Amino acid sequence: MTAQDYDAIVLGAGAAGLMCAAVAGQRGRRVLVIDHAEKAGKKILISGGGRCNFTNIGTAPDRFLSANPHFARSALARYTPADFLALVERYGIAWHEKTLGQLFCDGSARQIVAMLLEECARGGVDFALGRPVGGVEHGADGFRVAIGGGRDVPVTARALVVATGGPSIPKMGATGFAYDLARQFGMKVVEPRPALVPLTLGGDDPFRALAGVATPVVARAGKTAFREAMLFTHRGLSGPAILQVSSYWRHGDPIIVDLVPDRVEGWLREAKRATPRAGVGKLLAGALPQRLADALAEMLGLRGELANLSDAKLAAAEQALAAWRFVPNGSEGFAKAEVTVGGVSTADLSSQTLESRKVPGLYVIGEAVDVTGWLGGYNFQWAWASGWAAAQAL
Ligand code: FDA
Repeated sequence: MTAQDYDAIVLGAGAAGLMCAAVAGQRGRRVLVIDHAEKAGKKILISGGGRCNFTNIGTAPDRFLSANPHFARSALARYTPADFLALVERYGIAWHEKTLGQLFCDGSARQIVAMLLEECARGGVDFALGRPVGGVEHGADGFRVAIGGGRDVPVTARALVVATGGPSIPKMGATGFAYDLARQFGMKVVEPRPALVPLTLGGDDPFRALAGVATPVVARAGKTAFREAMLFTHRGLSGPAILQVSSYWRHGDPIIVDLVPDRVEGWLREAKRATPRAGVGKLLAGALPQRLADALAEMLGLRGELANLSDAKLAAAEQALAAWRFVPNGSEGFAKAEVTVGGVSTADLSSQTLESRKVPGLYVIGEAVDVTGWLGGYNFQWAWASGWAAAQAL
């Protein structure tokens, strides 16, 4: 069977793969994109609640996790949120900033996928969707990829771009294929862990009874803290503050949560002096959702009028509320994780081009790489930027 030959084969029709293919195609390269899914950009379609939080104007290297915190710097500097926004505007896609620099479509994430597919069409990119990738071989002439269970004509190219993402949400077709391929070519993989994921509490934990209650907090894992909302769930903790710290959390570690971030030290003792006859329950309910306030009052043994509570007891309560120690017994895992921390080691890749240092012509981009962004559009920005950077070198 004679192979069909391309300049570049991109494995994965997700955010990074589509961007890379479109840009390389428009630079005159003959590009084929292969994906085992029938449809391109499936994660884009469900992202941002269907509106795709497509970038964050606060993008900076320190908002990404990686064994090498400097690795993302080059690609992020050369393809910026403003560059992607200019593309979105060229397509007349209406957008808005929600909070914290997060940009969303006014309409639908489908517009972003349609835009990327149109960009690919303008670059003359070929697609092989619904095709499982079989073996990948590397020889003097480049790469040879078997697709369609060996029934299809094999394809060859001098460059292979791995853009198959991470294993988050396997139900949607996510796999650890990139890691297997990297290992096949002697590259290292930084242990992949679920990230931007709800954390679980033990079955007898009293906070599980508060499912549905949300409150603004500052949540901290190690040295990293986020001020956002926390949500109690039937299984544990979620909400943006928890999703953010989950990326930094390690099994066995506590999460320290300031449940009253707008109250300064001494607030309960101050209230006792100002209004000694006030009920402590009412005071807590002024700072926290009622159900949470009731539960915390019970746990801290705070009852009755402020005047009847010692300063020492109130000081201890202030301290506990400002640094509540939750010890999750796990996370909801890859099944619920928005992204994966870890992945193909950056030690084996060029930060300029995302090309392997060991295997010339092999590129790894997007979530497959050990670069993971915060919640809020950062992960798509990495997908666009790394896809664009690789495309310049193809
Ligand atoms: P991506 O996962 O997009 O694409 C990988 C492609 O490879 C897929 O099409 C897959 O089918 C294919 N593939 C996998 N294994 C294969 C194999 N063995 N053979 C062939 N093909 C294979 N980020 C953000 O910035 N803003 C947001 O709003 C959101 N929202 C969001 C919501 C939800 C529910 C999730 C799960 C994730 C997000 N994200 C996000 C994260 C974002 O979706 C993610 O970081 C990017 O899609 C990563 O882009 P990639 O192209 O690297 O992988």
